[in-house]
Amino acid sequence: MSDWWRDRVVYQIYPRSFQDTDGDGIGDIPGIIAHLDNLKDLGIGIVWLSPVYCSPNEDNGYDISDYRNINTEYGTMDDMQILIAEAEKRDIKIIMDLVINHTSDKHEWFQKSRKKDSAYRDYYYWRPGKKGKPPNNWTSFFAEDCWEYDEKSGEYYLHLFAKGQPDLNYYNPKVLEEIKDILRFWLDKGIAGFRCDVINIIWKSSLEDGKKKLALTGSEHYISQEGAHEILRTLKKDVFDNYDCFTVGETVLVTPAMATDLCAKERKELDMVFAFEHMETDQWFVKWLPRKFNPKRFMKTIAKWQTSLEWNANYFENHDQPRSVSRFGDSKKYWDVSAKMLAAMLLTLRGTPYIYQGQEIGMTDYPFSGLDEMEDIESHNLNKLAKKKHIPKWYIWKMLMRGARDHGHTPVQWDSSKNAGFTTGKPWLAINKNYREINMVAQKGDENSIRSYYKKVIALRTDSNVLKAGSFVPLKISKHIFAYKRELNGEAITIILNFSNRFLKVKHNGEVLISNYSKMGINGILRPYEAVILK
Ligand code: GLC
Repeated sequence: MSDWWRDRVVYQIYPRSFQDTDGDGIGDIPGIIAHLDNLKDLGIGIVWLSPVYCSPNEDNGYDISDYRNINTEYGTMDDMQILIAEAEKRDIKIIMDLVINHTSDKHEWFQKSRKKDSAYRDYYYWRPGKKGKPPNNWTSFFAEDCWEYDEKSGEYYLHLFAKGQPDLNYYNPKVLEEIKDILRFWLDKGIAGFRCDVINIIWKSSLEDGKKKLALTGSEHYISQEGAHEILRTLKKDVFDNYDCFTVGETVLVTPAMATDLCAKERKELDMVFAFEHMETDQWFVKWLPRKFNPKRFMKTIAKWQTSLEWNANYFENHDQPRSVSRFGDSKKYWDVSAKMLAAMLLTLRGTPYIYQGQEIGMTDYPFSGLDEMEDIESHNLNKLAKKKHIPKWYIWKMLMRGARDHGHTPVQWDSSKNAGFTTGKPWLAINKNYREINMVAQKGDENSIRSYYKKVIALRTDSNVLKAGSFVPLKISKHIFAYKRELNGEAITIILNFSNRFLKVKHNGEVLISNYSKMGINGILRPYEAVILK
């Protein structure tokens, strides 16, 4: 079986915000089917679907109450099968989100496990408290305690995320058997793999107290433990190896060496991982503490990962992150060219590129004016915690504006009609007011648009073995310039990026394949945010 996932470009869909077809203000699967031609036109070869399973939506689908059924808000199993079949007709593979660190507290297993003598009791971590306090001092990813006391049981359960997301206990071998069945269920329906949610934290080596930290106290007991590696090897051997599919792991707090242990071919665990280090270069310790964006730090981190890992899963955006043009580019004066420069980089690094819905038209962060405009549980929890710690209001707001995941959740801007063509009803989350200027239809018809640029560079990549498989050789990383070469069998392509709003002198010889200015830059001088791809 070939590694076809190395040659394709992935597009992530967050179904809730993609396209509504029934007027309830929530995106749905028929809405995805309606846009498959659009994705094909862009050059997409794989779609990653954020969760569409049944869920009470405490964390918008990342809390699954039934892994074998579709959330009625999104449609039916028939819709899902039509989606898989229609995608296949267009040679687009579908991968699904696999959330197996935890389930929803509404999942049947959890509900049954609340009885002490239930056969499901040790599907989860149930523990008595210690002198009226939780079993240990760990803190959760969502700015709260990670033990919840359950009256019915008289014990606490562990949840590394929200209260409604109890962690599964993989010490019980039955749990992994259940998961294997779920994987086969979906693979048999024709999906081509999984994006594995927070997969390197599924094994807890002990439940001892952790060293006190600013965030994630306790994490030394669950980040990339040997038990997680073993589970991944078992899943690959018992399930994934029997299908033509691939896996990409979302792996938190990993170094290149740790990531290599999770995805090096000979380890037989995952096919690639999403690392976070480049996305953490504009923060202090945690994402809520903003640090000024420094292009050099960003480029150096990317180059480090490019040269350390045999293969990377490259991304600048997803449903957990603010919009990249607002963050790493200039969404005001140089919105167009800076979005294109980021596109050039994303699509010419070594690895599989992941585009998040709306990124290809340069969607920007939302100008929230208050917490009541935000839906995300993470932002609401952070606000509560920060208030408890007496952090000044203005600073809390700064933290929220920087970290809010809802920046990436606002509905896709399809056209300039009411609600940006997303819904005929009331959108579940506000639509960015700039949709009249920034929308898909306008950009599809304009050969100089950001979307057209994405399309051109995707096509360049698809036709180029050098860009798909060549090595990555860093050439220059200065305050604002990032230059690198991709090389294969004596052939080379050079990429030069200007990460600033100034004209900068850089020698560049060679035939220009693509520049992100519609007219070519002055030879030897890069314009603000210019990207040139040279042969
Ligand atoms: C991952 C998901 C995120 C979710 C969390 C808990 O980080 O990307 O959206 O909230 O896991 O499932």
